Amino acid sequence: MRDPSIALLPQHIPVMLAEVLGALAPADGEMHIDGTFGAGGYSCAILQAADCRVLAFDRDITAVRAAAPVCAAFPNRLNVINQPFSRMEEFARIEVTPHGTLPVEGPFADGVVLDIGVSSMQLDQAARGFSFMHDGPLDMRMSAAIDPIDGSALDVGGSAADFLNFAEEEKIANVIYTYGEEHRSRAIARAVVKARQVAPLTTTRQLADLVLRVFHGCKPDGKHPATRTFQALRIHVNDELGELVAGLAAAERILKPGGRLVVVSFHSLEDRIVKRFLASRCGKTARTSRHLPEQSIKSELPSFRFVNLRPLTPSQGELVLNPRSRSARLRAAIRTDAPPHAIDEDALGLDQPPV
Ligand SMILES: C[S@@+](CC[C@H](N)C(=O)[O-])C[C@H]1O[C@@H](n2cnc3c(N)ncnc32)[C@H](O)[C@@H]1O
Repeated sequence: MRDPSIALLPQHIPVMLAEVLGALAPADGEMHIDGTFGAGGYSCAILQAADCRVLAFDRDITAVRAAAPVCAAFPNRLNVINQPFSRMEEFARIEVTPHGTLPVEGPFADGVVLDIGVSSMQLDQAARGFSFMHDGPLDMRMSAAIDPIDGSALDVGGSAADFLNFAEEEKIANVIYTYGEEHRSRAIARAVVKARQVAPLTTTRQLADLVLRVFHGCKPDGKHPATRTFQALRIHVNDELGELVAGLAAAERILKPGGRLVVVSFHSLEDRIVKRFLASRCGKTARTSRHLPEQSIKSELPSFRFVNLRPLTPSQGELVLNPRSRSARLRAAIRTDAPPHAIDEDALGLDQPPV
């Protein structure tokens, strides 16, 4: 049944929509994958731009439930699956036809778009625990996934509270330092461990106040000092960087020659992964991994060519209308007919200190 509160959710404003459409260039008869459906801004725009089909993914069941009226508005053209985009290949290969399900062989997608991160709906709902602006349970999980094939609950991992209440101090500090680029990570981790000896951390307000105390109530740059800690925990709890690497590799396998990959990211670590992935696939970097034999490095032909060498950023007009777009970076590339490359996580920037 549709959650009646969905109608009350503020809409997510799609970021860099014109640039996404320009890079994806949808045409009649094509099949596009939207890995991060959210409020469906990109999916709807793609479906309106051409008589094509979109297969969309979102790991958040709330977003998938809210998609029902959007799917109804585009009969037989939009399907939204409650799965992380890292699994786009296995689910997209099961093509639903009027005669049942058929496995799709070979590359089949004309476009893949990823809009990495959280939606405004997720940030603004206190109960999701993503934001220190609203008091809520310290959760931060994007997924509440059910298996679309057998309807069973999937293990979606622990919440931010689980992590903070049970992980070792050093691990907490590493997560906050690596994913939040927070220089006071050790002091914050120490304060977390001290606090949990008295009572477990359960709310976003508790964590925000704890970080504020570490900063003695100061707000450098006018920003709440908990901003970076919240971002780091969200990235860790949802394995966002691992998802991104797996999603890029899946896109490389399913895109047809001439198919387009478009990625919008908001965090420097994510943008670095996309940049390194495309540089290695477009033949712009010498691969330096110690894990791959020399020969396989040399034999890999470029599997993509750049649409734009430098990332696109939001226009001044968009920044005024939607300040949340300010850190967005768009990178895009076109698939060649070369085989997909082997995945090298170190070369993509996942060789961070252990977290
Ligand atoms: C920034 S919003 C996307 C907004 C969308 N482009 C629009 O125009 O409405 C990101 C969405 O992607 C989803 N998401 C984030 N990481 C995901 C992943 N690894 N797999 C599937 N969905 C993901 C989130 O749950 C969220 O709904």
